[in-house]
Amino acid sequence: MNGTMHRRQALKLGIATAATVALSGGGTGHATASASAPEALATRAIPASGERLPVIGLGTNNYSPTNDAERAARRAVLARLTASGASVIDTAPAYRESERTLGELLAELGNRDRAFIATKVTAAGGTAEEGQAMLEESRRRLRTELLDLVQVHNLVGVEVLLPLLREQVARRRIRYVGITTSRAGQYPDMLRWMRAAPLDFVQVDYSLGNRAAAAELLPLAQEKKIAVLVNLPFGGRRDGNLFSRVKGQPLPPWAAELDIASWGQFFLKYVVSHPAVTCAIPGMTQLANLEDNLGAARGRLPDAAQRQRMEDFWDALAGPPGSV
Ligand SMILES: NC(=O)c1ccc[n+]([C@@H]2O[C@H](COP(=O)([O-])OP(=O)(O)OC[C@H]3O[C@@H](n4cnc5c(N)ncnc54)[C@H](OP(=O)(O)O)[C@@H]3O)[C@@H](O)[C@H]2O)c1
Repeated sequence: MNGTMHRRQALKLGIATAATVALSGGGTGHATASASAPEALATRAIPASGERLPVIGLGTNNYSPTNDAERAARRAVLARLTASGASVIDTAPAYRESERTLGELLAELGNRDRAFIATKVTAAGGTAEEGQAMLEESRRRLRTELLDLVQVHNLVGVEVLLPLLREQVARRRIRYVGITTSRAGQYPDMLRWMRAAPLDFVQVDYSLGNRAAAAELLPLAQEKKIAVLVNLPFGGRRDGNLFSRVKGQPLPPWAAELDIASWGQFFLKYVVSHPAVTCAIPGMTQLANLEDNLGAARGRLPDAAQRQRMEDFWDALAGPPGSV
């Protein structure tokens, strides 16, 4: 490891200590973020290393701005994200201009060292060479030599890519390796890989309206000590997502007992209180949404009984799981 990386990682760890608060996590379903300062964010440990990550990160599949105002809004989100102590930013070559936009904006803001960049790779043709080329292009676009996490996107080419990614971890060009999906149809394959291969992370879809991952995948991640990023925590950007189901509805009065002040916090506290979950990565292009969602990493989190209450409430409101 060269000196630059040492300084960068030390800085990263220092920031995590100063601006975040550790969650117990790991098997009880109960975790409390007892913030000593209002801005402290709850964190969870990556099992493979013990490094702690704030439980709220950022998804960037809508980071291809088409005008100055859109670019400025995303810049404001990235500035506030790291200033608040949050760090995880999920992107992918498949997300059009996302990697390039992140590379430019993080360079402008000077906050790359505070970010935990998770990108993705595929090998549709089944060769490691295409994966290798894609990784170099990601580094160029993201303007970084060291990728914090590289995930095989939707398991495409996983067999040839995992050895390549491990080799790059050994050469300190990647810090962690993972695989992703957002479709229950891929869970059987994902479960097989989780049993067969050494993985640091999985990324999976999970929300109050879509709990299929809780049946086998999340428990296996806990058992195998694999960190979990959660995509689509609001059911995506489409019409019919979780927000559309609660439009005009007040929060239940008991939400205040969990320090929940908005539907965004309601949905995210449900996700991040699952004991297997390391970090949720909601898509956010608006600063107000980031500010709102950071609230899910502060204050009390639901325990197992309170999570059941949230599920019962949701099912009565919106129909059974799988309907969103
Ligand atoms: N297979 C895979 O690997 C895979 C698949 C899907 C997604 N992903 C990752 O997961 C991330 C999240 O998924 P997603 O962005 O599609 O869906 P999502 O996180 O479920 O929903 C994002 C939508 O919610 C809105 N939003 C965010 N916070 C809000 C709040 N507090 N109140 C009201 N609305 C709010 C966002 O609006 P604004 O943008 O206007 O702020 C955006 O329209 C993606 O960006 C991507 O990084 C990975």
